[in-house]
Formats: sequence, structure tokens, C-alpha cells
Amino acid sequence: MKLPFAERAGLHVASANVPSPNFSHSDAIAGLWSLCRESALTLLQLKGRSLLPVVQGGMGVGVSAGGLAGAVARLGGVGTISSVDLRRLHPDLMQQTGHLLKEPYAAERINAANIEALKREIRRARALSEGQGVLAVNVMKALSQYEAYVRCALEEGVDAIVVGAGLPLDLPELAKDHPHTALIPILSDARGIQLLVRKWEKKGRLPDAIVIEHPRLAGGHLGAAKVADLQDPRFDFENVIPQAREFFRFAGIEGQVPLIAAGGISCLEDIQRLQALGAAGVQVGTAFAVTQECDAAPEFKRVLAQAGPQDVVEFISVAGLPARAVRTPWLEKYIRIESKLKAVAHVKKQCTMAFDCLAHCGLRDGVSSMGQFCIDQQLGHAYTGETDKGLFFRGAGKLPFGSRIASVQELMVWLLGSITLAALTPECIT
Ligand SMILES: Cc1cc2nc3c(=O)[nH]c(=O)nc-3n(C[C@H](O)[C@H](O)[C@H](O)COP(=O)(O)O)c2cc1C
Repeated sequence: MKLPFAERAGLHVASANVPSPNFSHSDAIAGLWSLCRESALTLLQLKGRSLLPVVQGGMGVGVSAGGLAGAVARLGGVGTISSVDLRRLHPDLMQQTGHLLKEPYAAERINAANIEALKREIRRARALSEGQGVLAVNVMKALSQYEAYVRCALEEGVDAIVVGAGLPLDLPELAKDHPHTALIPILSDARGIQLLVRKWEKKGRLPDAIVIEHPRLAGGHLGAAKVADLQDPRFDFENVIPQAREFFRFAGIEGQVPLIAAGGISCLEDIQRLQALGAAGVQVGTAFAVTQECDAAPEFKRVLAQAGPQDVVEFISVAGLPARAVRTPWLEKYIRIESKLKAVAHVKKQCTMAFDCLAHCGLRDGVSSMGQFCIDQQLGHAYTGETDKGLFFRGAGKLPFGSRIASVQELMVWLLGSITLAALTPECIT
């Protein structure tokens, strides 16, 4: 069987992830647009730009940095850098700050190193993207350095700022001098959407898109108050998307705020179903975390890829939000002793990592209703692939290629055209 669209999308170079000499980058982008047309998908419109309807979700710590975000943008999608603790990717910055603990200047120097790392990652992603697609920076509202990261990303001229883990009601003010930067909040239900849009309208700005992240399906921190709420049908895309669109009609802003559905999306049929419901695009996390271009260690990818939906577990993070991750030995043990740790929770003299990554941290602040571990330390172990110590965030869904680590290009071709390398004729695979 000959698959011209796959060929045009450059799949015959995807296995080695090396550009073929007679196959140009713009051919690959044109091929992916053709796949969208063939699959009856509409392109995502963001601030007047036409993009593949696939957003790569921001993933910290260090999972989606410049390498992954640049690779996704390069193919005409939305690539997202997670802004949190990026100094970990830069040996010189770690050498300057990794040992700091009790020094009075520790937090200041670590925060400065993280800003420097964010600038480097934005520039790396931009160079890799070759001017294609959209480059976004994800900032969690719950971070103590939220404002500093947003300002840095805006000054570096990123195309979009995406904010989750809290309501970014202040984002229009922070970005008032940057009207061309897309502002994209992450929310989970129609009530949150209505509240945020009403508040932003009063400030004279609408979201340029909204990511609707499903707490029953997504990886990382989840937009529900308690673990017991994760199954609530009010989060179902079948409810949130039509309700949000109805509100937009009522508010007179119909068609002005594209909706991007996130959580559990792994194939073309998912995207077609969500676009039929009224979504403009989808955001995908875990499947991008297990690509060759993902910035984390190979062991990190292996843990996520080899875990099935039955191996993921939900718990309360130190940020006070439910979270979803792979049930690794560390997490298994933590969950076993969680109630004992909570019973002895008390205010600490200082943060374990010396830079107060979260504005409110259950461990540092001694809040027994919140998690009792150092999230930066655990996510750092996962980033470097320490399987016995790390916290490996993962979504609840199946992965498109099982435990195989594919390239970003192959994932895009699969999501947009339902085509795998295995389905190609031998002459297509060089
Ligand atoms: C390893 C990992 C880390 C994540 N970190 C963040 C983050 O720092 N900020 C954020 O807004 N979302 C984060 N997410 C959520 C993703 O961006 C994405 O919305 C979600 O995982 C989509 O669900 P899926 O994994 O089923 O595709 C993370 C997800 C994973 C798997």
C-alpha cells in the first residue's frame, strides 16, 4: 500500500530522526497540513496564525524544555517550554547553585540561574523551530516565581504564555505591554472558564485560547479540589466544551476563544471527536514526554512508556492539588506513610531546596491537608531518570506506540493521519 501523505509528511526519515537530503523541512510541514485535510481536521487558529491542531503541553521539571518545544514548533504545532527549575539542564548553572542551601543569598542566586536557564531554553527552542509553529512558555500560577517567569518569557518575545495550576486573573495586567503574545489559561470546567473570561473582559482582554484539561485523564497537577472529585462528570469534554461555547454565545464572543482539549488524547479519532464537539485543537502531554526529542533522561521516558493506565495513581501534591503519576517504588512508599507524615506536619525553618519553588508548599508550611514531600527534588530525580527516587508524572491514558520511543514527527503523523511506520511500504522507510 502506497501512502503518499505519509511520504509527504516526511515519515520515511522519522525512524532515524535525521533529515533526508532530498526531503525538505517545508515538505514535512506541507505533508502534515495535507494529513489534516485528508483527516477532515481543521487547523488551529491562534492570534491569526494557522497551526496544526496539536499543542504539546508544558511538562516540568525539564521534561519539555527547548529541545522538545522546538521540535514540535518546527513541524508547525505549538511547542511549550515548562519554565520551572530549568537550571537543572545547564551544568554551569547547577555548578554555581546546586550546592546552595543555608546561605542568605541562596534563593536569589537560584532564582537568577533559573531565569538565565529559561532565556537559554527559549532561544534554543526558537533556533530549532526555524521560525515555524508557535513557541509557548508554561508557567504554573502556584510558583513563587510565577510573575518573574511570565515577565522573562514576555521579554524574550515568546508567542504564547500558558498558565495552569491556579487562576491567572492577573495575566492581562502582566502582559499589558505585549498585545501580540497569546495568553492561554488552563482550566477544567465551564464555571472556571466563565469566571476567568468575565474578569479578563473587565481588563479589556480575552484569552487567545483556553486549554480545558480533564482531571480524570491528564498527567501532573490536576484541576480539581480533591482526589474524589476527579471522576465528576462536570469535567467531561462532552459537558465542558458545549457549556463553554454556550457561554461564549451568551457573552457575545462566539468564535473568538479557541478551546483546546487536554488529557488522554492518543489518536486521530480522539481529535476528530473533540473537534466535532467544538474544540479547535488538542493538547497532548505524556505521548510527547516519551518522544526521542523530550528533554528528560531515557530512563524517565522508559518509566512512563512501560507503565500502563493500571500503573498510575492519584494523590495530593505539596501544592495542595491532586496529581497523577506512575506508581514507582518511591511513590508507593510515600503513599503508604503519607498519613503518618501528615500527622507530624510542622512549619519548617526553610525550604528543602532553598528557593521556595511553590508560593504555598505543604511540606515547608506544615499544612497537613497538603502533600509532605519536596516536589522539586522528586521531579528532579525523575528528570535524571532515577527510577527509585523520582516522581514520574503521567497521564491516565494509553500511549500511541506502546512502550516504543518514537520521534515527534512520527507522533504528529500518527495523531493527524493515523499512520504508523509499520504501515509504510519498505521503499518509504530509508
Ligand atoms: C511529566 C508531566 C509533567 C507535567 N508538567 C506540567 C507542568 O509543569 N505544567 C502544566 O501546566 N501541566 C503539566 N503537565 C500536564 C500536561 O501539560 C498535559 O496537559 C497533560 O499531561 C495532558 O494529558 P496527557 O498526558 O494524557 O496527554 C504535565 C504532564 C506530564 C505527563
